[in-house]
Amino acid sequence: MPRIDRRDFIAYLGGTAAIAGMTAEAKADAIEHYLTANVTAVPAAPAGTAAKRPPTVAELEAQIPTRPYRRGAGKLFAAEQGNVPLLAPLPANANLADFIRHRFMGTSEHCLQSARLARRKNLDEDVVFACLIHDLVLNVMRTEHGFWAAQMFEPYVSEKVTFAIRHHATLRFFPDKEAGYEYPELYRTMFGSDYVVPAHQQAEYEMVRKHRWYGATRDITVNDLYSFEPGVKVSVDDFLDVIGRHFKQPKEGLGLDGSPVAHMWRSAANPDSPL
Ligand SMILES: [Fe+2]
Ligand SMILES: [Fe+2]
Repeated sequence: MPRIDRRDFIAYLGGTAAIAGMTAEAKADAIEHYLTANVTAVPAAPAGTAAKRPPTVAELEAQIPTRPYRRGAGKLFAAEQGNVPLLAPLPANANLADFIRHRFMGTSEHCLQSARLARRKNLDEDVVFACLIHDLVLNVMRTEHGFWAAQMFEPYVSEKVTFAIRHHATLRFFPDKEAGYEYPELYRTMFGSDYVVPAHQQAEYEMVRKHRWYGATRDITVNDLYSFEPGVKVSVDDFLDVIGRHFKQPKEGLGLDGSPVAHMWRSAANPDSPL
């Protein structure tokens, strides 16, 4: 376990009062975000010289052979710190809420807080739902997560929700001041200070920018929280009605309905299966 500077970490979370109000999962998530933002950065410069700076693309690449996992691996499949936990069995006919509770813990808090924020802003309910599911697939696969998410959810959600979650990941790289969205500072650390968005993503952005569902897609990025509100515990139970109206739950259970993406849900259900 890398060393954490306690004072830095407390400040990062907004002080001791903020930490007191956090759930155990929120704290675990916060530690992970903190480590992503700090441990992967290049070492701090000696006192009195330049402050910490984000790594360059070349420096991030040099870190690849220093890890036992790849950064694109889903959170269920590789622990960034320590070992993976034993998982609880899923109930028969597992539904989306069961997966959120028992398999998608790595991003459930983040997604629930994003959905809560969208609901407080009175956004359309399908956008609230899109926020609720937008990053759940990170537990299966991180690389290309917008496209993985869209594929995994497509049989069960509207075309608009599929579009919004497919393209939210690319919109994250493109600021929209009018919408209140800036390029995330965290991305300088995660992708490199000199990272250049590849041409295919630039083209994807230009297509989405002109699309009638740009607004819904942009809303996901605006509500994409990287903070943890003190004292706020968001439960999936608060969104069962939204899920009921926007997710076509297969009666056989997710992974068992014979759909073209059933194997993706089974992979999330049984991530310890060796083949
Ligand atoms: Fe995302
Ligand atoms: Fe997100």
